[in-house]
Amino acid sequence: MSIIEIKELTKYYYIGRNKKIVGLENVSFSVEEGEIYGILGPNGSGKTTCLKLMLGILYPTSGEINILGKNQFDIEMKKNVGFLPENPYYYDYLTGPELLKFYGKLYDIQEKILNERIEKLLYLVKLHEAKKLALKHYSKGMLERIGVAASLINDPKILILDEPTTGLDPIGCIETRDLLLQLKNQGKTILLSSHFLSEVERVCDRIAIFHRGYLLATGTLRELIEKYNAQGLEDLFVKTINDFDKKGDR
Ligand SMILES: Nc1ncnc2c1ncn2[C@@H]1O[C@H](COP(=O)(O)OP(=O)(O)OP(=O)(O)O)[C@@H](O)[C@H]1O
Ligand SMILES: [Mg+2]
Repeated sequence: MSIIEIKELTKYYYIGRNKKIVGLENVSFSVEEGEIYGILGPNGSGKTTCLKLMLGILYPTSGEINILGKNQFDIEMKKNVGFLPENPYYYDYLTGPELLKFYGKLYDIQEKILNERIEKLLYLVKLHEAKKLALKHYSKGMLERIGVAASLINDPKILILDEPTTGLDPIGCIETRDLLLQLKNQGKTILLSSHFLSEVERVCDRIAIFHRGYLLATGTLRELIEKYNAQGLEDLFVKTINDFDKKGDR
């Protein structure tokens, strides 16, 4: 069953009077319940634009978004969605549990349930031993992990993560990958953007390759490798992008 459906989604950014920048151009895809769906693409290809449109943070120029049977602005639907932004900003002087409490309050979660959930989440992201440490003393990996915990505070069905492994060392990447697989096993649907191909290759059930706002290809890695006669994900990535660029702007 599709839990997310995107139909002919377009976003143009306008700068000044007549400069139009393509954020996303006529993109359609769907995400099935329980899968990890990876959005891949070079810098500026439209990954963040797509995720922000889905979260209702940006308004589309045209097209439709359907999440859990509702449009992207539906408040009830949003209770079932968690989001980790690309460059999150946290209050430096809060500790991990305080930050999670702050987010939990925004969702109006009952105190007792919230405290239990915070405890569980801190264990899940392996920050239970750093309970008293202010976020300003966190390493990049710890910040990323507290971000993932924050995006789970409402126990969402759908988790949307914008480049969760950027800036992480290999161990951090492996830990994040294990965490994502653990969350998938708990039944969560995960949509993640990344340009780390090896990461995506290991965790995603299906992928989408974006370039210059276009969705060039989507499917399982095996399907796409066969279709494009590629050697692996890296080759597939380069091939789809080069083919598109050779054809010139459509
Ligand atoms: N607020 C904005 N105003 C104008 N142009 C924007 C804005 N946000 C994004 N863009 C442009 O839209 C295009 C897609 O950007 P987007 O941030 O979605 O790409 P991305 O795939 O997330 O890139 P990255 O991998 O660097 O995070 C780029 O050309 C970018 O410059
Ligand atoms: Mg981005």
